[in-house]
Amino acid sequence: MSDSYKFKQYGVNDTSNTCNNPALSDVLEARFSRRGILQGTGALGVAGLFSGTFATLAEAAQGVGNLPVPTLGFAPVPFGFEDKVVVPAGYSAEVLYAWGDPVGIPGNMPAFKQDASNTAAEQAAQAGMHHDGMSYFPLPMAATGSKHGLLAMNHEYTDDGLLHVGGMKPWNGEKVLKSQHAHGVSVIEVEATGKGWKVVRPSKYARRIHANTPVAISGPARGHKLMQTEADPKGLEILGTFNNCANGQTPWGTYLTCEENWDGYFINNSGSLNANEKRYGISATGAGYDWAVEDFRFDLQLNPNEANRFGWVVEIDPFDPKSKPVKHTALGRFKHEGATVTIAPSGHAVVYMGDDQRFEYIYKFVSKNKYNPKNRKANMSLLSEGTLYVARFDADGSGTWLPLVHGQNGLTAENGFADQGEIAIMARLAADKVGATKMDRPEWIAVNPRKAGEVYCTLTNNSDRGKEGKPGADAANPRNGNLFGHIIRWQENGADAAAAGFKWDIFVLAGRPDAAKPEHAGNIKGDAFGSPDGLLFDRLGVLWVQTDVSTSTVNAKEYKDMGNNQMVAVVPETGEFRRFLTGPNGCEITGLAFTPDNKTMFVNIQHPGEPANERNDPAKPTAISAWPDGPQAGRPRAGTVVVRKLDGGVIGS
Ligand code: FEO
Ligand code: CA
Ligand code: CA
Repeated sequence: MSDSYKFKQYGVNDTSNTCNNPALSDVLEARFSRRGILQGTGALGVAGLFSGTFATLAEAAQGVGNLPVPTLGFAPVPFGFEDKVVVPAGYSAEVLYAWGDPVGIPGNMPAFKQDASNTAAEQAAQAGMHHDGMSYFPLPMAATGSKHGLLAMNHEYTDDGLLHVGGMKPWNGEKVLKSQHAHGVSVIEVEATGKGWKVVRPSKYARRIHANTPVAISGPARGHKLMQTEADPKGLEILGTFNNCANGQTPWGTYLTCEENWDGYFINNSGSLNANEKRYGISATGAGYDWAVEDFRFDLQLNPNEANRFGWVVEIDPFDPKSKPVKHTALGRFKHEGATVTIAPSGHAVVYMGDDQRFEYIYKFVSKNKYNPKNRKANMSLLSEGTLYVARFDADGSGTWLPLVHGQNGLTAENGFADQGEIAIMARLAADKVGATKMDRPEWIAVNPRKAGEVYCTLTNNSDRGKEGKPGADAANPRNGNLFGHIIRWQENGADAAAAGFKWDIFVLAGRPDAAKPEHAGNIKGDAFGSPDGLLFDRLGVLWVQTDVSTSTVNAKEYKDMGNNQMVAVVPETGEFRRFLTGPNGCEITGLAFTPDNKTMFVNIQHPGEPANERNDPAKPTAISAWPDGPQAGRPRAGTVVVRKLDGGVIGS
């Protein structure tokens, strides 16, 4: 979702963090490329830990540190200004699965209707709107093949102007239900054929999870009094997941979907918000989804605890369509971007997570128990128990993971945290208390398969940094008015993902190297980009960066000739950035998955055609995009694109 989607249109304040954690404004030394600190920590031989079990991308990527430094063999594409997906010469890009396409549920495969007249019930069996994070799972389970698998993907939010006949006028219960059904997750079966990839329909795996799907709860907030509602007096089962942004993939073959801007679906008109509601941005109006008008679950005056049941990481078993998703409260409640899983040398599962709002934090979770490659069932509860940490980045280039544990660091009942459940539910307030570093909107996090313990995080932008009354530049967020964003990285102490501390540096300042104003200048070696968001290493160690320049910013003078959102390939060892893909007009590029052989790439195109005001009105058909169906068809649709090399080779080579 573009960052200004809700804030500009609906006037919601984009900063909820008003705590006094140090901004280090007096230390303006930008820490570029302190490679001296980061060198000399070669990859550990962890490959053996994973052998013979799940060949997920996360797992397949481990242990490639001894392979040669990857090279990029494609000719970069220029900035994109056309209403199409552009990839380098020698590559193809084909649409696989767009909003409204049937998922493939046996006996229930309604076709998409271009006038948006599909019913709410039909929408529950079709692709949701606005595709986002995505993972590929080879079939059968635990296989390593690259021709047949499952794609699990998020549908982050709805543009209700496009979703319904007549848009939001009139607004009614059927439209609310359709909007709820267009959120969540798709699981689809996909297969490579002689004519390219196709969705297998019908499929016994096909599934839609949406805003009304029953979801279980694990961890310290399970059954907590702040999770109890009239409809669920024991606090054990939540209806649905929504605003599913980025994702994660576990080595045991499950999918993690992350709830981001969930606050915008709730309203509280009471005129008085409690500290928890304020810290998470609850407002009287929400972000304009207007669910509460028809579904009182989203009116916090009537259901004060319902909002506590969103903002979590949700684990889904894509191989079992009857399995109940689980919200893992041990991973904390915030505006989750993604959840990137790695296994520490000790065998503990480690999950890195960003909280995407201006001046929010980077977190990690370390499981109490160890990953067991031979016991998938046991692994499915690894995320239920462990320690949640939040990051402090110090000006000297060191960093500390601060534990959010009841009874430690002032997280006590006297200070407003009755128990660990409250720390999980109010993780932002707990992180304030322990002194975490306020970052420029943490988005995706990627673990380098070529260098054990090295981790990258996109900080997409923060135009508020340095504004009056807001924190100023600091070492880890070195630009005031950070329009273009940056990528930070850290090296865990001892090359151990479970370590308590790390060394960090700024990998790149995004922007245009030729910018006249230093605050807009990047230090990119190669093709310029802005607002890095999606971030994933492929199995060879190429880092792929997807951009989300908001549609309002795309038109700003600093941006104007940089075109549509894009994807660049990066070789961390050489610092080379090469533009690989540009998207259609008004879109965001977000969501990325590879087959284990690295020969097929799946990319999601989100909100094509989004106008500068970031709401489409069907009475005024979008002038800027008719992707992917073309001008005759009408409505632009988010979609999954399959990218391959025409010679069948490895992507990027
Ligand atoms: Fe949904 Fe922070 O992007
Ligand atoms: Ca994002
Ligand atoms: Ca974004």
